[in-house]
Amino acid sequence: ARVLLVTSEAVPLVKTGGLADVITALAQALRQQGIDAAVMMPGYPAAIERACNLKPAGTLQQLPGGPGIVLHGTMPGSDVPVVLLKTERFDRRTANPYVDEDGREYDDNALCFGSLAHAAVSICAGETDLPIPHVVHANDWHAGLIPALLRLKGVSGVGTLLTIHNLAFQGNFAMSAAAELCIPDAMLTPDQFEFWGKMSFLKAGILHADRISTVSRSYANEILTPRFGHGFDGLLNARKDVLVAIPNGVDTSAWDPARDPLTVRHFSLNDMRGKSGCKRELQQMFGLPIDPFAPVLAIGSRITHQKMADVAIDALPGVLERFPRAQVVVLGCGDHAYEQAFLDMVERFPGRVSVHIGYDERRAHALHAGADMLLHGTRFEPFGLTPLYSMRYGTIPIASRVGGMIDSIVDAGLEGAVPEDASGILFDGEEAQDMMAAISRAFELYARPNEWHLMQRNAMSADFAWSGPAEQYIGVYREIAPAEAQPLF
Ligand code: ADP
Ligand code: GLC
Repeated sequence: ARVLLVTSEAVPLVKTGGLADVITALAQALRQQGIDAAVMMPGYPAAIERACNLKPAGTLQQLPGGPGIVLHGTMPGSDVPVVLLKTERFDRRTANPYVDEDGREYDDNALCFGSLAHAAVSICAGETDLPIPHVVHANDWHAGLIPALLRLKGVSGVGTLLTIHNLAFQGNFAMSAAAELCIPDAMLTPDQFEFWGKMSFLKAGILHADRISTVSRSYANEILTPRFGHGFDGLLNARKDVLVAIPNGVDTSAWDPARDPLTVRHFSLNDMRGKSGCKRELQQMFGLPIDPFAPVLAIGSRITHQKMADVAIDALPGVLERFPRAQVVVLGCGDHAYEQAFLDMVERFPGRVSVHIGYDERRAHALHAGADMLLHGTRFEPFGLTPLYSMRYGTIPIASRVGGMIDSIVDAGLEGAVPEDASGILFDGEEAQDMMAAISRAFELYARPNEWHLMQRNAMSADFAWSGPAEQYIGVYREIAPAEAQPLF
């Protein structure tokens, strides 16, 4: 059976967040289970440069915002087929795919991602040389228009699944873009694409997809409530019967302490000696004093309000004062004001805090492997890959009790004995004192080797393989695929 995964990013072509990891790993896992999965995404210059064996598979003259060429090839380093839409507008996206250098959204995002959706529909209508997929798996708002456009164009025989990786990103645009996207006025009503005076790509997807999924059981429940629903809780409740939760997995070969080519030392559950070498390497890389006994607390994520950067900035000075030996390592980029506040902390605590602003895969691996704890405060988290990456390396997560982390981390609690199956520390609340209490607990447990090693063992042996989630996706595809494709699943 053929499945086309439509996305705005995928490793190793272009990545800004977890979505990129998830798409490629899922495509690989699906292929291992006999599904002919291909990834479709914009032909940003970086994607075109990195993809292998690209060949033209059709020209689409009528796309919104200008004509496009559909290219077909494979992902580097795997057999996953990739379909790239090359347009003049995507040609201009040389750095971040969504925002300019000042962090402002590009003003032609509606046209760009609208053209991606139209191109996917053209493939489904047989207007290119590519085979017609049985299922289109649309991811996030970037692909949100696909189910509705298939209906508007009268293309049947293709099942649609919309996966919500982050409900906060909705693709809401001025209504004036609708005409160029071939969306009739009749669809711009509150019971269709209209959302607070705008036209919402994600709302269109939620309304028209055959099935909707999100990336953890807890987040699937949360988004049905006003606190986490970002204005879509009512709508999602109305479509609850087609909403399913399928957790992400982790690419266990890329994030493997025993084999990681990006770390200096290797280790495993049965031989943890290499971890201290990784810790030394991390301290060296970040210019901190080499101290095997200093508890090293790491942050590695987008530096944004979602990720509670503001709370960490408030909480960490108190932690550093209270625990004179502790070291803090920060890797990330995002909101410039928060970035600056982290940099100011380096001035205030020389030799204790080190910050690298930027996106850096090698540093990310060094950080997950070498730190003792990973701080992952977040106001909401659909899944949360980074705490799981750190767990693979016996780096204990200190994370907010939200979304995917509720499902993937077993909480040691803020006091008392550590439960047999604990693998991290979860905290409630969004105040500095909530975060500080959790960090203090982690430092207290770090000083109790038996309990600490128990948590490390639990964290490292947790099962986050992709095979189970891939099987669940196949189950959903089977339900929505056209009848003649059923025997293929
Ligand atoms: P989100 O997708 O919301 O950002 P996730 O934790 O699911 O959150 O995924 C984040 C992904 O981005 C992970 O693969 C993480 O390693 C990566 N990442 C985030 N910031 C950086 C950075 N500065 N350098 C390297 N990798 C980063
Ligand atoms: C989003 C979410 C993150 C999730 C990722 C992959 O970016 O913020 O929690 O892990 O998508 O599904």
